[in-house]
Amino acid sequence: MILTTNIPVTHTFKSAISEIDFNNLEFGKHMSDHMFVARYADGEWCDPKIVPFADITIAPTALALHYGQSVFEGMKAFKMDDGNISIFRVASHHERLQKSLNRMSMPAIPFSFFDDGLKALVNLDHAWVPEGEGKSLYIRPLIFASEGRFGVKISEEYLFIIMAGPVGSFYPKPLNVKVEDTYTRAAQGGTGATKCAGNYGGSFYPTQLARQQGFDQVLWTDGSDELNIEESGTMNVLFVIDNCIVTPPLSDTILGGITRDSLLQLANDLKIEVHERKVSAFELVAASENGKLTEAFGAGTAAITAPIATITVKEKKIMLPAYSSDSICKQLERRLTAIRTGNANDVFKWNTVLLK
Ligand SMILES: Cc1ncc(COP(=O)(O)O)c(C=O)c1O
Repeated sequence: MILTTNIPVTHTFKSAISEIDFNNLEFGKHMSDHMFVARYADGEWCDPKIVPFADITIAPTALALHYGQSVFEGMKAFKMDDGNISIFRVASHHERLQKSLNRMSMPAIPFSFFDDGLKALVNLDHAWVPEGEGKSLYIRPLIFASEGRFGVKISEEYLFIIMAGPVGSFYPKPLNVKVEDTYTRAAQGGTGATKCAGNYGGSFYPTQLARQQGFDQVLWTDGSDELNIEESGTMNVLFVIDNCIVTPPLSDTILGGITRDSLLQLANDLKIEVHERKVSAFELVAASENGKLTEAFGAGTAAITAPIATITVKEKKIMLPAYSSDSICKQLERRLTAIRTGNANDVFKWNTVLLK
């Protein structure tokens, strides 16, 4: 692939690519051969480099482990039909990363530093971008506090690592979800709108309980008696009510998904009406009873869209109609995939293209 940067590269002496069954990719299991690493010290980001993917050494006192200064992103690169590679919405992911860093009192990362590292890694490991429906290279930028200290303080040292690995489709079949009415994921004024590690740790217990009850995921609410829906697992949620898309408006308790934003722009383009407004679990029950709720789906980088089969609201179970290729979620996903693979015009300028 053609790309020159000043980032020094240490090549792996033995690629692991021949060990991967690209027809059977478990999400998050396989890492590509290399990773980008940089560190923050003395008030600046320094020493960017690409090295073989490997374990790292940190102090047991690294502040991230104790006080949670750790944020990340989740993004994807796709093999295009002409053999080039597209990385999806780099600027939007960088913008959200800045927001997360800022909220967690961590140092900003200049766009070019982020963009150069990302492109250099994907370029070097381009053979790891899988071809085929639903497949992509998942990219995980991570920044965490690496200073070793006992005291509760803002770290003065950080590590920035970008790693990647090939993935296939996330959720094979429509989901059974439960509206969570005991626990919440985020509070007003908290960190819910950021991609900080603690948001995920805190969501595991309620999700584990839901799984024990036979559900795939929970739908988080705002914790009010109205049970206003917020999001689900690692996805935003969208509903089709009366042929319009209805989705909760972004707030400081919801992560602003790049997939959500993309699907809403595509819906506008397809002249599908979009309402960003509060939607309570009880409204969903009523809309289902009068036949107006025809689709419910998650939207996120990992799954793209994840249709929902049933939604349990307290003791009521909403059964969604079956999905077909005409379903709005499928139409939107096809459009999105077409843009990413170069089958449709990239009118929104979402793709960063690396030439083969
Ligand atoms: C909590 C949460 N909400 C929503 C999303 C969807 O965001 P995106 O579409 O940018 O992947 C994610 C995934 O990143 C997430 O972790």
